[in-house]
Amino acid sequence: MAIERTFSIIKPDATARNLTGAVNAIIEKAGLKIVAQKRILMTRAQAETFYAVHKARPFFGELVDFMISGPVVVQVLEGEGAILKYRDVMGATDPSKAADGTIRKAHAKSIGENSVHGSDATETAAIEIAQFFAGNEIVG
Ligand code: CMP
Repeated sequence: MAIERTFSIIKPDATARNLTGAVNAIIEKAGLKIVAQKRILMTRAQAETFYAVHKARPFFGELVDFMISGPVVVQVLEGEGAILKYRDVMGATDPSKAADGTIRKAHAKSIGENSVHGSDATETAAIEIAQFFAGNEIVG
């Protein structure tokens, strides 16, 4: 399988509980390498752009408010089949449906406050990475 890069966010519910290291331990144990990482406060404009695909959804306002409510850790993860692998490692969006051993099963609070985001496809991964990182900030 090809080496890929995917984009990850450790969300405000997780940073508020000091879980960055716990989440990163699960990521690294799964064989994914953190090749870029920074802790930021997203602006409303950044969050609205990032989640633009969900603009028509009833939860859009709540989602944007949540994502700017505290620090997030944005990351680039690298590894074989990284996009699908990270979605497996995160678990289902709704933590009540997430499998044992996943980040969301262990740490997520609800479908909204679900601790992590990961890209869903190659094209979105490239777009999401480029929104937050310059090429020279990613060191594989
Ligand atoms: P994420 O993988 O970041 O992509 C979109 C996000 O929308 C998703 O995780 C959830 O956090 C959020 N989301 C999805 N469904 C709902 C919902 N019904 N209510 C609130 N937030 C939701």
